[in-house]
Amino acid sequence: MSDLSTRDSANTPDHGHGHGDVPADDLARPLYEGPGGLPAADIPHRPRRSDFDPKAARRAERQVSSLFLLSMLMVVLFIVAYVAIDPQADIYIPMFGEVGYQTFALGLTFGLGVFCIGAGAIQWAKKLMPDVEVVQERHSLASTPHEDEEAAEQYERGKEESGFAQYKIIRRTLIAALALFPIPLVVMLRDLWTPTETTAGLSPVELLSTTAWTEGMPIVTDGTYAKIRPEDIPVGGLVSALPEDIMEIQEEEHNLNARGKAAIILVRMEPDEIRAQQGDGWDYQGILAYSKICTHVGCPIALYEHRTHHLLCPCHQSTFDLADAGNVIFGPAARRMPQLPIGVNEEGFLVAKAPFAEPVGPSFWERG
Ligand code: FES
Repeated sequence: MSDLSTRDSANTPDHGHGHGDVPADDLARPLYEGPGGLPAADIPHRPRRSDFDPKAARRAERQVSSLFLLSMLMVVLFIVAYVAIDPQADIYIPMFGEVGYQTFALGLTFGLGVFCIGAGAIQWAKKLMPDVEVVQERHSLASTPHEDEEAAEQYERGKEESGFAQYKIIRRTLIAALALFPIPLVVMLRDLWTPTETTAGLSPVELLSTTAWTEGMPIVTDGTYAKIRPEDIPVGGLVSALPEDIMEIQEEEHNLNARGKAAIILVRMEPDEIRAQQGDGWDYQGILAYSKICTHVGCPIALYEHRTHHLLCPCHQSTFDLADAGNVIFGPAARRMPQLPIGVNEEGFLVAKAPFAEPVGPSFWERG
């Protein structure tokens, strides 16, 4: 496959243990000489301390395995933090302000766990693996059987030189660290069915399919949280809106899940332009309320073309016809936009007449 010429840090492959007190300068040799006898590089090669000092090599071995052990410890601390820290508790972090204590602890332990594995691998490569420089000449891409054999030999040689078999403690700690590493990812799935006070007793499907909208819930604007009167929305207009109690729910739950599920848009058209709705009389004098979350993969949508009544998702161009029950007329979305039935209360403000009749957001979970 190729000509490989190497210059390693010592005369024998016994890296890290076999050079005794050979002075560093004696080990420096010229690099590969390419066609025409020109050197590929003229920088003298200097061996690392661990190449000729067994004590330094052992010290490096301890450093590497310590990093892998530290990674394992971080995984254990991650799980302890997940179980022991109150998800509602906050902590003050300079420059960031108040952040969730558990979120902070999970991020810190998981991040350090990943970092320690990476740092250990880098240290291993830098201090213990053979310090070899390789020059590879380019040839045709097709390999001959001989080159295949050569590649297999190089693989075996690389395996041997990496010290994977030689450094038992590194090998074992690395395998253990990598074995523990996926655990946090599995543990975090538990959040899918960790109910809060307001969602206690609900299954994951119910949690995903219910929103903060209830019968009589006033509709407020997203931003000022002011209640909305029908006359506030002109024909052709669009308003992003939320349920009135969204801020209390957010404070209670310490997340934006409820906001993400309950976001709606209000659009107004002439009543005789409405060709179909998802329920009889679900509009109020031409004002229609639809979920703002695309049924494809959940992008928020507010691109409305008032002459055609088309709602366009900027992510993958799914288009919904709001004058025709929110049906999909183009793009990858497989399901219409859910409509919220609305009316007005005795004070003249727009309210939800009932919760959404179908789940909002991506439709992947309806397939099960
Ligand atoms: Fe809307 Fe993909 S998320 S089209």
